[in-house]
Parts: sequence; structure tokens; C-alpha cells
Amino acid sequence: MSGQKIVVLGTGGTIAGTSAQAGDNIGYTAGQVGVAQLLDAVPGLQTMAGELLIEQVAQIDSKDMDIEVWRALALRCTHHLKDPEVRGIVITHGTDTLEETAWFLHEVLDARKPVVLTCAMRPSTALIPDGPQNLLDAVAVAVAPGATGVLAVAAGEVHGARHVQKMHPYRVHAFASADVGPLGFVEEGQVRLTRNWPLALDGEALIAIENIANVDPWPRVEIVVSHAGATGSMVDALVRDGVQGLVVACTGNGTIHHHLEAALLRAQAAGVAVVRATRCPEGQVLPKPGDPLPDSQGLSPVKARIALMLNLLR
Ligand code: SIN
Repeated sequence: MSGQKIVVLGTGGTIAGTSAQAGDNIGYTAGQVGVAQLLDAVPGLQTMAGELLIEQVAQIDSKDMDIEVWRALALRCTHHLKDPEVRGIVITHGTDTLEETAWFLHEVLDARKPVVLTCAMRPSTALIPDGPQNLLDAVAVAVAPGATGVLAVAAGEVHGARHVQKMHPYRVHAFASADVGPLGFVEEGQVRLTRNWPLALDGEALIAIENIANVDPWPRVEIVVSHAGATGSMVDALVRDGVQGLVVACTGNGTIHHHLEAALLRAQAAGVAVVRATRCPEGQVLPKPGDPLPDSQGLSPVKARIALMLNLLR
């Protein structure tokens, strides 16, 4: 039986952004308004949430997301998820790396209760800010009966951590789960699902959280891109610099420019873990027998980087 408290963890982002000129939607500074103040500005939120517990974990533009904030966030989530009084967690976050944090948390939390990331594409000083409605919708998901897993809520849609992706740099409806579509919708405070809530990791999450708490630094994993005219020199330089893992954002079905591929095979032979993901925004690499480099099993390059980093930590 889950409790009644909703925990809201603030990390910054445009949802907490302000601009000097009201209505400026691009010349603003992210991560300015405290999460408690954001919540105060949403009528009906307190009634929907019941008891609220609010913490400011960070106050950043999510382009600057780093391992320290991820570690702090994961440890605060783990702490609150274990509390029988807590029903679910809402995290306010910038849109730019939201999908990465969602996947990271999916991989390290025992999210048998909902952990809902939300955000905004317009700062709090916009003529029509989208943050307040997104916050209310995120709380609606956090209190929805049976909700589980790490989720993202924006523009009236609910997405799972595996597929959610920022698709547009400006429009308010910026997120999608390409291939599979949204997991559901939030309509007037009610959640309408299109499929089941995601399953939570349990035993594996325990190992992952111990590793991220105790290992410092985390393995270094970088992303390289295969493109017309690619060379292997970046890969060779990264190997000399001690990189432990490489994700290659491949063309099409996991293909790589032959110069870059030769360097990646050298890196693999030297002990660097190499994984192929596709640059295409939809679909996934379909592996063939004898492929010399493993594929990311459907993860985008940025999520494959997180998965590889956590695998190396294990
Ligand atoms: C950020 O990601 O923190 C800034 C951009 C945004 O939230 O839309």
C-alpha cells in the first residue's frame, strides 16, 4: 500500500527560467526560480498532490547536466522511494537532457512507484508558460493508480524513459516516443494509457545504485559520429586519452565510414568497449551474424552512452 506524500525534486531548466523581458522565449536564463515557488504558482496542485515534500537538488541549465547532479538525484530518489509514506516523485528538469536523465534513472532506480520528469519549453516569464500545466499533469501521473517506472510528462503526453526523445528545439510540443508513440495522455487531471506502465528494475537497481554511490570517477564513455568524410583521428586521440567506452552514432542500419570503423576496431582490440547506435531518429540497428561491433539494442546514441557507462561500472 503506497503512502500519500508526493516528493518534488527541482533541478532547474527552462521551467525555472526567467527573461529580463516578459515574453522573450529564447533570450532567457534557465534555472532561476526555486521549485517551491514554481509549485506555489500552480492552482490546484496542492489539492491534487495531497502532502508535498519539496527539495531543490540542483539549479542548472540541463545542457550542463553532469555526473554529480545525477548521483545526487539518484540517491535522493532512492531515499524517497524507500519511504512507505511516499507515493511518487516528480522531478523538474530542463528539456535538453531530460531523456538522458530519464534513462539514467530508469537504469538505477527501483521505480515500483512513479518517478515523473517534467519540464517546459517556455520560461516562467513567458506570455503563456507551459510549465504550470506540465507540473500539474506530472502530479496527476504521480498519483495515478498503479503508476510505476520512470516517466516523462510534457504537453499533455506521458512517455516512457526508453523511447522519449526531444524532437524539436522550439515548439511547445517538443517530445515524442518515436516508433511507439506516447505511453498515455493527461486530460483534465486524468491519465489515459495507451499501454501498460513500464516495469521497474529491482535487484539490478540495487547493484547499480551502490556502484554509482561508491565508484568515483565513473567510466569515461564518449560518443563519435559517422558521417561523410569521417576519419579515425578522433577515436585514436580518445584512446590515447584513456577513454574506456565509445558509442558510435552510425549511419542507417549501423553502418560506419570505413576510416572511422578501422579506428573503432583498433580501439576495441585495445580494450575499449565499443557500441553501435543509429543516427536515425526512428528505428534501431538490426544486427547481422558476424557484426564485429555490438549494437545498442535500440537505444539512441545518448542513452547507449549511459547504458555502456553503467555496464562498465558493473
Ligand atoms: C534546459 O534544458 O535546462 C534548458 C532548455 C529547456 O529546459 O528547454
